[in-house]
Amino acid sequence: MKLLKDLQQMKREHVKLTMMTAYDYPSAKQVEAAGIDMILVGDSLGMTVLGYDSTVYVTMEDMIHHTKAVRRGAPDTFTIIDMPFGSVGISEEVDLMNAVRLYRDSGAHAVKAEGGHLTAFIQQCANLGIPVVAHLGLTPQSAGLTGYAVQAKTKEAAEQLIAEAQAVEAAGAVMLVLEAVPSDLAAYISGELSIPVIGIGAGRDTDGQVLVYHDVLNYATDRKPKFVKQYGDFSAGIEALSSYNNEVKAGQFPTDEFTYKAKIMGEVAHD
Ligand code: KIV
Ligand code: NA
Repeated sequence: MKLLKDLQQMKREHVKLTMMTAYDYPSAKQVEAAGIDMILVGDSLGMTVLGYDSTVYVTMEDMIHHTKAVRRGAPDTFTIIDMPFGSVGISEEVDLMNAVRLYRDSGAHAVKAEGGHLTAFIQQCANLGIPVVAHLGLTPQSAGLTGYAVQAKTKEAAEQLIAEAQAVEAAGAVMLVLEAVPSDLAAYISGELSIPVIGIGAGRDTDGQVLVYHDVLNYATDRKPKFVKQYGDFSAGIEALSSYNNEVKAGQFPTDEFTYKAKIMGEVAHD
């Protein structure tokens, strides 16, 4: 397994880092088999697997439950757990207790938290020994305020993002996820920071990339952001399911090949 120090070394050696979301045993197993460097159990699971229209409904229990399944599917992949909406940014004590619980009870190797206001929290986690991945730019938990639009398009907003990125690194963040920002800004931040910067909708000049499993595989997703490239098509599964439905109804399944034949009824007393 690539440990945090190996992943951070990859940035220094200019080796691109790959991250993919996973939410359960089979998706984690596939991501690990594909050789992807890191798994993010994103709170995007609220949309991708729980069917909500926002990440704000995802609970601590949801995150822990899904992350434990991911760890069973990908025991040899560095795994990051998202801190869900309302679990951080409340108070020092609540934030830390939640970080401890997510980290300890899920088996994840790091927690990820959205927003540039969490520098004190990141520092306290570092004191406790909890690696924190920061997440800046578009932070979907704040979509009620910001929408899902590309961020940092003005000079002021870009300068603020640069300052926030430097601040989370100084506070002890081990990595930064940068979502939906102009590519030149993302490239600049990646060059300024010594921790790996993983982009999503941030262009190709970050230290690595992350995408959402269900987006990459076209697996029952409802909306497709501009930055998503679809590499596979799980919607073909619908044809398979419909063949099963039709064959059962037509009496074509199961054939002998799929049937246990013991000829036991000759020996059983019956009318
Ligand atoms: O929840 C998630 O999947 C994420 C990624 C999009 C970075 O936070
Ligand atoms: Na997330």
